[in-house]
Amino acid sequence: MAQAALFVLPLLAALCTAEPSVYFKEEFSDGDAWAQRWVESKHKGDYGKFTLNAGKFYGHEEKDKGLQTSQDARFYAVSSRFDSFSNKDKTLVIQFTVKHEQNIDCGGGYVKLFPSGLDQSGMHGDSEYNIMFGPDICGPPTKKVHVIFNYKGKNLQINKDIRCKDDQFTHLYTLIVRPDNTYEVKIDNSKVESGNLEDDWDFLPPKKIKDPEAKKPEDWDERAKIDDPEDKKPEDWEKPEHIPDPDAVKPEDWDEEMDGEWEPPVIQNPEYKGEWKPSQIDNPNYKGKWVHPEIDNPEYSSDSSLYHYESFGVIGLDLWQVKSGTIFDNFLITDDETHAEEYGNQTWGVTKEAEKKMKEQQDEEDRKKQEEEDQKRKEEEPQEEEDDDDEEEEKEEEKEEEEEEEEAPLKDEL
Ligand SMILES: *[C@@H]1O[C@H](CO)[C@@H](O)[C@H](O)[C@H]1NC(C)=O
Repeated sequence: MAQAALFVLPLLAALCTAEPSVYFKEEFSDGDAWAQRWVESKHKGDYGKFTLNAGKFYGHEEKDKGLQTSQDARFYAVSSRFDSFSNKDKTLVIQFTVKHEQNIDCGGGYVKLFPSGLDQSGMHGDSEYNIMFGPDICGPPTKKVHVIFNYKGKNLQINKDIRCKDDQFTHLYTLIVRPDNTYEVKIDNSKVESGNLEDDWDFLPPKKIKDPEAKKPEDWDERAKIDDPEDKKPEDWEKPEHIPDPDAVKPEDWDEEMDGEWEPPVIQNPEYKGEWKPSQIDNPNYKGKWVHPEIDNPEYSSDSSLYHYESFGVIGLDLWQVKSGTIFDNFLITDDETHAEEYGNQTWGVTKEAEKKMKEQQDEEDRKKQEEEDQKRKEEEPQEEEDDDDEEEEKEEEKEEEEEEEEAPLKDEL
């Protein structure tokens, strides 16, 4: 008994304080060492390179360093392994930050969570994963957050549209999947979508289907209104739409031989009533719209473990980017929603304001520089009459640009 208590008590204590399990965490805070933890796929020979970078503007030069895509129009494929775990009976939280500082036109910003069996050096776009989550942008029509679950070998997209952020700042993306088969998506620690897995993905066939035996009866009348059978077209209804203008007179100089026979111009007949239509009455046989009766779908069987995966073992960035520059940072995989929120606050939360400020200052400096250049260009504009010859003009412009480029370093020294 006493011995059993020795084991049980610490266990109880652990349950009560509910220490969060952190399965994976990556902040890139140890310089080049990340390259030991992240494996580049060899599936293709020309994957784009990730560099460790805080970007052009940031909240904290060291803390904001993350993996940045550095080459345009490339596929990227890196992944990092952690101790395999299952989310059975546990909440799963996947969280990371994404910063599209390049003003992204088209490119992925999502992560994939793979089962532990993944061969990292052979990872590619079709490698089987459990969950894919995060923003994806391609032109104005595609600006969404993917939440894709693999279920029995099929990748299932969410049936709802979740918009992602498309500005140049760092944003925090969080996916929570709970053992009661509910989920939540947060951006910047605010809920943007939630619900349950069965409703928002096509994991299972529908519970109800239309009864294949049921048919609409032949005599089912769905017309709410019908023509009034009593209504008859009045005898004097028909009138031509156009008539000769009764006020028109043949011009005095009209020459029948030269101009042909004179005919008055045609005008709209004020008595024309258009097409006759009988008036409408309520249909005495109206039965309303026929509703196809539903039955329980024999194909349906519930599954209370839609959320569940046997193993998670690798997180990967498997992306295509047209314009590179996206920075990924602050990865966290845990079983604790509150811990994830706290961690988001301590990372994204503490640097976002300073990042914004730095960007605003840079924008202001750029604006001033542009103004000065515009002013200078105006002053240097040749005062003589413009030459009409386009070629000459072009040459002159080219020369001006060259001159400006030469002057630029001087300005920086001042
Ligand atoms: C995170 O920060 C927000 C805003 O300051 C705050 O409301 C929230 O309670 C914080 N969450 C945690 C878990 O500390």
